[in-house]
Amino acid sequence: MSSGLLAGKAAIITGGGTLFGEAVAKVLIADGAKVLIVEINAESGAAAAKNVGASFVQADITNDADIEKVIATALKELGKIDVLVNLACSYDDAGAATTRAQWMNTLNVNVASSALLGEAVRPHMKKQGGGSIINLTSISSSVAQIGRWAYPVSKAAIVQLTRNMAMDYAPDKIRVNAVSPGWTWSAIMNMLSKGDRKKTDRVAAPFHLTGRVGDPEEVANVISFLASDRASVVTGADWAADGGYSAMGPEQAVPAIPLLEA
Ligand SMILES: NC(=O)c1ccc[n+]([C@@H]2O[C@H](COP(=O)([O-])OP(=O)(O)OC[C@H]3O[C@@H](n4cnc5c(N)ncnc54)[C@H](O)[C@@H]3O)[C@@H](O)[C@H]2O)c1
Repeated sequence: MSSGLLAGKAAIITGGGTLFGEAVAKVLIADGAKVLIVEINAESGAAAAKNVGASFVQADITNDADIEKVIATALKELGKIDVLVNLACSYDDAGAATTRAQWMNTLNVNVASSALLGEAVRPHMKKQGGGSIINLTSISSSVAQIGRWAYPVSKAAIVQLTRNMAMDYAPDKIRVNAVSPGWTWSAIMNMLSKGDRKKTDRVAAPFHLTGRVGDPEEVANVISFLASDRASVVTGADWAADGGYSAMGPEQAVPAIPLLEA
């Protein structure tokens, strides 16, 4: 049964063809929204849309003509646009060895495309009296991780982009927020752990206060709240949905002072 939180709302979710994006679509639909999944991979996007009861458009968000196609499809299939979730991403990153082409690609998918999609939905949200944009960032936006440069830099840029968008869209009554997940059960975790959730939780435990990775549905609940009118006072913010990862310092969740006495 729908919670009604997003009753009557129409939402676009980019990157909806992945495990994480599909879970976000599922939760937004359960909360009452109509959803359009945008995905470069026609097969995974269509399958996800079918699984959750969303509409689907195959599109590359780095292509301006495809962005126009996304807007036209949203208006045709959903009738309007209240919510945009910028979830699609590129993990293309070789650390210090990242090539110019990789830099441009990662920043293009993660940062520029989020901004340009925001601009594309803006007039439609403005016309109907407002809207909500949610940009996916990451714990990687604020810490150094070995061998990773382009992806964390792109996620840090998204935190700043969120503030810039929130500032300029406020007169149009469009709220813009970021959501920053910690390790979340997703396609990449599934692949790296060979589907071993218990092992994934074990590895994540020392640096998440919850002692496990998050479920994508848990992050989706935060996205759904920010998309809803209940979050009417929230804009320009970066919401941690990270199981306490960012609350922890280098001492982690173990008593360090007794080590002095040992
Ligand atoms: N997985 C995690 O633990 C985690 C942690 C923190 C933040 N995040 C963020 O959550 C989001 C989802 O992460 P994920 O791990 O599920 O990623 P993923 O790589 O599994 O999914 C990204 C999706 O975006 C699509 N995509 C890529 N380029 C595209 C393009 N040009 N046009 C349209 N679609 C495109 C891909 O095909 C894919 O389906 C990302 O923004 C990521 O930064 C994930």
